[in-house]
Amino acid sequence: MKFFIDTADLSEIQEAKDMGLLDGVTTNPSLMKVAAERAGQPLDFADHIGKICDLVPGDVSAEVTAVTFDGMMIQGRELAAIRNNVVVKIPLILDGIKAIKALAQEGIRSNCTLCFSPTQALLAAKAGAAYISPFIGRLDDASSDGMKLVQEIIEIYSVYGYDTEVLAASIRHPMHVLESALMGAHVATMPLSVIKKLLYHPLTDIGLTQFMDDWSKFQEQS
Ligand code: G3P
Repeated sequence: MKFFIDTADLSEIQEAKDMGLLDGVTTNPSLMKVAAERAGQPLDFADHIGKICDLVPGDVSAEVTAVTFDGMMIQGRELAAIRNNVVVKIPLILDGIKAIKALAQEGIRSNCTLCFSPTQALLAAKAGAAYISPFIGRLDDASSDGMKLVQEIIEIYSVYGYDTEVLAASIRHPMHVLESALMGAHVATMPLSVIKKLLYHPLTDIGLTQFMDDWSKFQEQS
């Protein structure tokens, strides 16, 4: 399973990269806003995406803010020109589906975002999206089953042999990662806090403390 970090904060990306397990980055306009707030200054979007791409050799999703086909095509080409590892993030609306198909024909890869239903995901795959991003946590927040959506997308893509990779998004806790992994999602994108939580188990800490104590006692006996 590939691990992406869901942030535009350079220090968080660096910290995840330093763990040695980071495969890519996903950003969105809200995450850009947070990054600018933390930086305490306005950020140039293209420049900032370039910095992220230079930090992480894997795929970096950068989202269009246009909502028309023509606008998405212009922005999609501009974003793709920043670096080779940019993947253009496009919302799952009619013009978005059209743009995903047209950009794919130009060799530009896309991450189809804001996916909340399996039929939406089917359209994204037919259009040729490189990634589909089902938003698990936001469905759970709305009293729906986010993990069920991931399962249904994986099943549909498997039946028809679509190449579109399932990128589990809007992940809130390690159980979302575990269930996505068990289902065979290709990628999980998550905040740094969730990546760190994947490591933690109290019995590991208790066991290690005991081993260290006993090792000291063993050395005193020798
Ligand atoms: O990358 C977009 C997605 O992961 C959003 O997550 O937590 O804002 O629902 P969230």
